[in-house]
Amino acid sequence: MQPDNIEKIVIDPFTPVLGYGGQGVVYGVSDDAVAKVYHLNGPITRILAGGEDPERVAMREYYIQKMLHQAGFPVPEPYGVEEVTLIRPSSLFGLYKPDRTALIAERINGVKGNALSGENLERALHLFDKWLKEAWKLEFTGIDARLEDTIYVPSENKLYFVDFGMWSHPSVYSL
Ligand SMILES: Nc1ncnc2c1ncn2[C@@H]1O[C@H](COP(=O)(O)OP(=O)(O)O)[C@@H](O)[C@H]1O
Ligand SMILES: [Mg+2]
Repeated sequence: MQPDNIEKIVIDPFTPVLGYGGQGVVYGVSDDAVAKVYHLNGPITRILAGGEDPERVAMREYYIQKMLHQAGFPVPEPYGVEEVTLIRPSSLFGLYKPDRTALIAERINGVKGNALSGENLERALHLFDKWLKEAWKLEFTGIDARLEDTIYVPSENKLYFVDFGMWSHPSVYSL
């Protein structure tokens, strides 16, 4: 899914893990970028994504995130879907599949929404409501936003939304 002349991103045991959830693990692959590496098509992914390939799930999330970004939503800019090489200690014994599908996106440095307190929490909650109303207006569906999937940047008073694995939109139904 990428031209041969672009070097593959390699994630090794020293690459920091920024978060994880039901659909994938998010690694900080540089100071500016993250790679969300989708779980293999195991039981959890099958329930969440209806048995779909990680590539399909990744592309849908990419399109939703791109639409939101273009509409001026506070979401990390999505850069693309790529195959990355994931080197885990167990892969040495052939137990792990190293070629994995990942969504590459802008890295946001801030505080996870569910770790906020006091005034920052109040500000974040205000922004949370405001942007969710906007998302409704733009006809996004399946919105399962929760504070855990937000990142607050206090210096900018900006609340980023991440994780669009469950979101949909009439324009991407057919994907
Ligand atoms: N662009 C990003 N920059 C920094 N941290 C991120 C970024 N995207 C996701 N994360 C962190 O990784 C966590 C897991 O990513 P997420 O997309 O929610 O995976 P899942 O779909 O498996 O829940 C998020 O809750 C967030 O804390
Ligand atoms: Mg999540």
